[in-house]
Amino acid sequence: MTISAIHRVSLATHDLAEAQKFFESHIGLGRPVKVADQTIAFGSGSRGLRIRKPPRLLNRTASELHGSAGTRHVAFDTDDLNGIASRLDRAAIPYVHALPGDFDASAIYTIDPAMNVVAFCQRSTGGPTDQAIQSLVHDWGWGIHHVNLEACDVREAAAFYVEIAGMTEGRWQAPAAAGDVVVDPSMVSLLSLGDFNRGIHIVRADPHFPTRYSLEHNPTVGGHPAFSVRDVHAVKARLERDGVLISDAKVYAMDRMYQIYLQDPSANMLEVNQFI
Ligand SMILES: [Fe+2]
Repeated sequence: MTISAIHRVSLATHDLAEAQKFFESHIGLGRPVKVADQTIAFGSGSRGLRIRKPPRLLNRTASELHGSAGTRHVAFDTDDLNGIASRLDRAAIPYVHALPGDFDASAIYTIDPAMNVVAFCQRSTGGPTDQAIQSLVHDWGWGIHHVNLEACDVREAAAFYVEIAGMTEGRWQAPAAAGDVVVDPSMVSLLSLGDFNRGIHIVRADPHFPTRYSLEHNPTVGGHPAFSVRDVHAVKARLERDGVLISDAKVYAMDRMYQIYLQDPSANMLEVNQFI
């Protein structure tokens, strides 16, 4: 496989101090590091979650790759960055190199067919192994379970990750109680990174989703990162104490995965889950 893990997720905020308090104290991601003037990072090095206050809309300077739009992105580890770059070249899909210091290793940014900004980061032979990444996540007490990306044309977006990034579509693991679930490939694609639905979830927006599952939020709209934590009920209690609206989906879509949905103070949709 060319892609081995989610390297990081980056979200935009209106207010860095508020975002820091929210992700540090409420979600429980630990203390962030300030990595640039308007950017904080949870995790280690360029790995984990990055929150950035974007520069003024459409204000593009030499140090900005994509302006505000690029703040929100997902990055993947790859063992073959050159291979991905040459496949992008062959498909005439533009990409840019990340600026020095943006990642711990060389990386490129591109845009998938559904207009999601995506980065690919080279994993050097001396870089962390899968096992080392798992133990990092163990030390953090949280990890990125999946990234949900919205796509109007799910098949076109999935083909990009298969053909350009060398990923493979996996079989959705629904809760055993749900029986044999037939997933419509025009609505959902799972690009697997490990077991238990880890990886990229590409979905088409479905306006009926919240009603069908009695949710306050619609997690099929606009994409979301999903953070796995050790105690989802503790996260839920902290958020509710502060008046944050929660959709408690319980175990409903993924086998042995308790899921809640919420929005951060800048209205980024988030999923927090716990493997049970
Ligand atoms: Fe999700």
